[in-house]
Amino acid sequence: MRRFLIAGNWKMNGGPYDAAELLQGLKEQKAEVDENVDVLVCPPFVSIGMASEILHDTDIQVGGQNLHFEENGAFTGEISGSMLVESGCNYVIIGHSERRQYFGETDETVNKRVKKAIEHKLAPVVCVGESLAQRKKDEHFDLVKNQVKAALFGLSEDDAMDVVIAYEPIWAIGTGETASPEQAQEMHKHIRDVLAELYSQDVADGINILYGGSMKPANAEELLSQPDVDGGLIGGASLDAGSFSEIITIA
Ligand code: G3P
Repeated sequence: MRRFLIAGNWKMNGGPYDAAELLQGLKEQKAEVDENVDVLVCPPFVSIGMASEILHDTDIQVGGQNLHFEENGAFTGEISGSMLVESGCNYVIIGHSERRQYFGETDETVNKRVKKAIEHKLAPVVCVGESLAQRKKDEHFDLVKNQVKAALFGLSEDDAMDVVIAYEPIWAIGTGETASPEQAQEMHKHIRDVLAELYSQDVADGINILYGGSMKPANAEELLSQPDVDGGLIGGASLDAGSFSEIITIA
């Protein structure tokens, strides 16, 4: 039985002052968290340590938004897996479309980061998803299949079981244009089939596939009720304690 994961990707929001206020607000919401639901927040690097401290007496997990695939050294501005672990992280987002679009992330570097995350026992949350142009050209299924295969290249079954996949159609990110439940379910089922092809149906059935892209309290229930949607990776709505708590309670 797959657990559910509701994750907040704060992106470049939530420096130490704002993060403290948001996290205290989240704690005060006392969201009703089903025993089968895990909750994760991914603040910017500068707020991770403090988030771990504030959340230490809760079940809310902390994650990073990226990591370098080298262990340490002359990589100005980069953050290593061990730094995330020492700061209290158990998860790390890898390959977000914004990193692919603006910061030169490729399928190859995604795979290197996934392997480094697993080396440090950080659960990789691997983002995949198509642009509107690719969907309109009916290229989205092949694109996502290739992204999943590239991200997991060289991973054993055991390692793959620790990976979380986040399907984030680029055209739905930050636009308010959410995928329909049918569109989400169709792609999630496709991803599950790709995982079954790569490994086995048992492995595929054990891997969390999150939906991301304008998930809000108003649409969370219809999305999260889809058989192959195992949670959400939430941007804007995770920056509001009330909205994020509502989605957690719905899950
Ligand atoms: O990683 C989650 C993010 O891309 C979704 O953002 O604001 O559409 O929920 P948003």
